[in-house]
Amino acid sequence: MEQNRERNRAMELVLNLFTIFLLLALSGRVTCCGRNDFPEGFAFGAASSAYQWEGAFDEDGRKLSVWDTFLHSRNRSNGDIACDGYHKYKEDVQLMVETGLDAFRFSISWSRLIPNGRGPVNPKGLQFYKDFIQELVSYGIEPHVTLFHYDHPQYLEDDYGGWINRRIIEDFTAYADVCFREFGHHVKFWTTINEANVFTIGGYNDGITPPGRCSSPGRNCTWGNSSTEPYIVGHNLLFAHSSVSRLYKQKYKETQGGSVGFSLFALGFTSATDDDIAIQRAKDFYLGWMLGPLIYGDYPEEMKNSVGSRLPVFSKEESEQVKGSSDFIGIIHYLAASVTNIELKRSLSGNPDFYSDMGVSMTYLGNFSAFEYAVAPWAMESVLEYMKQSYGNPPIYILENGTPMKQDLQLQQKDTPRIEYLHAYIDAVLNAVRNGSDTRGYFVWSFMDLYELVKGYEFSFGLYSVNFSDPNRKRSPKLSAHWYSAFLKGNTRFLGSQGIMQLQQNNFSSSASS
Ligand SMILES: *[C@@H]1O[C@H](CO)[C@@H](O)[C@H](O)[C@H]1NC(C)=O
Ligand SMILES: *[C@@H]1O[C@H](CO)[C@@H](O)[C@H](O)[C@H]1NC(C)=O
Ligand SMILES: *[C@@H]1O[C@H](CO)[C@@H](O)[C@H](O)[C@H]1NC(C)=O
Ligand SMILES: *[C@@H]1O[C@H](CO)[C@@H](O)[C@H](O)[C@H]1NC(C)=O
Ligand SMILES: *[C@@H]1O[C@H](CO)[C@@H](O)[C@H](O)[C@H]1NC(C)=O
Ligand SMILES: *[C@@H]1O[C@H](CO)[C@@H](O)[C@H](O)[C@H]1NC(C)=O
Ligand SMILES: *[C@@H]1O[C@H](CO)[C@@H](O)[C@H](O)[C@H]1NC(C)=O
Repeated sequence: MEQNRERNRAMELVLNLFTIFLLLALSGRVTCCGRNDFPEGFAFGAASSAYQWEGAFDEDGRKLSVWDTFLHSRNRSNGDIACDGYHKYKEDVQLMVETGLDAFRFSISWSRLIPNGRGPVNPKGLQFYKDFIQELVSYGIEPHVTLFHYDHPQYLEDDYGGWINRRIIEDFTAYADVCFREFGHHVKFWTTINEANVFTIGGYNDGITPPGRCSSPGRNCTWGNSSTEPYIVGHNLLFAHSSVSRLYKQKYKETQGGSVGFSLFALGFTSATDDDIAIQRAKDFYLGWMLGPLIYGDYPEEMKNSVGSRLPVFSKEESEQVKGSSDFIGIIHYLAASVTNIELKRSLSGNPDFYSDMGVSMTYLGNFSAFEYAVAPWAMESVLEYMKQSYGNPPIYILENGTPMKQDLQLQQKDTPRIEYLHAYIDAVLNAVRNGSDTRGYFVWSFMDLYELVKGYEFSFGLYSVNFSDPNRKRSPKLSAHWYSAFLKGNTRFLGSQGIMQLQQNNFSSSASS
């Protein structure tokens, strides 16, 4: 008997190993980890932003932001209604609860709370955010709030040029003061600026995102100066952030106990020709531009040399104010890019802009006609390692990570590529954490399909789909929502490719045709 049992156990072990081997072979890589492998307290969540989710663009006293006017003036699809989250937030919090999120990241619409950007608070806007935050915390979901997600009030743009004018620092600080005062007893995680680098490049160098300013040849902007404005705006964003951070420390931190961070769009770089100089320059321009001042009090040398007098200078006092002003760094990571040196072109350009200053040309990895980002988890790991090794290992929250698919309600329900992407990237985060990175949280972009910057409703990143032709904006879980939920609930059975097939059977075989 005993022997038999031993033999059976041995047999079982061999079979288990064989299954594991099969799974590895099938998935083509190691599938090791469940959420319990992460340090205790590591937060898993999902994300959204005000303009992309709320809708109700002219309701209850909200006024226009630059994002509204940018899209309206171009007659493009827009976020006037979006997911109608303004009216459906309770339903959405229920979905978050079912999914098992620890945390939810969203932004406050400045022009809903303070319609003209400064001056009186809109009581209905205030009530909405109070109700929404209350709903989240009543279910134990930790709110991570972004103050500025591309959508400053149009009034400030018209009045003094928005972010190109230092006057905005005072207004932004007053807006943050209202948020801390009104929401700070529930909100402990504040991000001042979303993707500061990409907001600046998109809005002031390329002009393809609000407020749509640029002057580079071949682009179509009515206003702007791509040689100077990106750097001026970057500088002002850093000051606005540090001013808000200082306010929090002086007035709220002791009683509220939260933290204030800054977020960046972080690409992982590689080079087909092993060009380390090109890679370093790309890192300096994309990350060091903001991280240098925040961590060390100044821009990277390479950037100062290249941009010259167009790069604003920090006085000693200013440098001290910006340095150390971020309690954490928010990393927004999707893509890897291959870089090549373009040193020669740089000196020939009579009309320098961010890219020619960087002196590097970039190709994103992926197949964009097929709505596919490359699955390159090494890129995530390299970003986190770089933060650790070159910028003193600050606390990090990965505020966005995800992959798009074409907006197609039938196809999307079976979003296996999204699961494979998320799984690979979550593994990469774990590798970095195990190697010493102080990463403390991870948010999937996006919780549900949203209005996407640049691509509108064509790109869908959500764990939940939204039927945008339905006046009720019906939400439905995709396969990835079931997968993420199983992962969050510590169920590792569904991590491999067979598990994914099983999920599909459990969740969609009966409802696939409905
Ligand atoms: C705006 O776009 C819609 C749909 O693409 C089109 O029917 C309409 O004519 C456009 N309006 C203007 C003013 O261009
Ligand atoms: C600029 O506008 C013209 C005319 O509307 C259009 O044909 C061209 O594609 C635009 N160029 C860019 C870079 O958007
Ligand atoms: C941008 O500003 C710089 C500095 O004021 C100026 O020299 C340059 O001509 C401007 N470029 C454009 C396209 O207006
Ligand atoms: C990219 O996707 C398109 C559309 O699915 C496909 O036809 C093409 O072969 C793909 N290209 C590469 C390089 O995989
Ligand atoms: C792990 O961290 C060490 C120390 O920072 C570093 O030298 C090493 O390259 C890292 N390993 C990986 C795989 O990134
Ligand atoms: C989306 O909503 C529209 C309008 O209610 C409906 O006709 C359509 O069938 C829905 N699509 C799906 C895939 O449910
Ligand atoms: C989806 O599958 C999981 C795992 O089998 C199961 O726990 C869950 O109840 C299913 N959800 C639905 C809506 O069928």
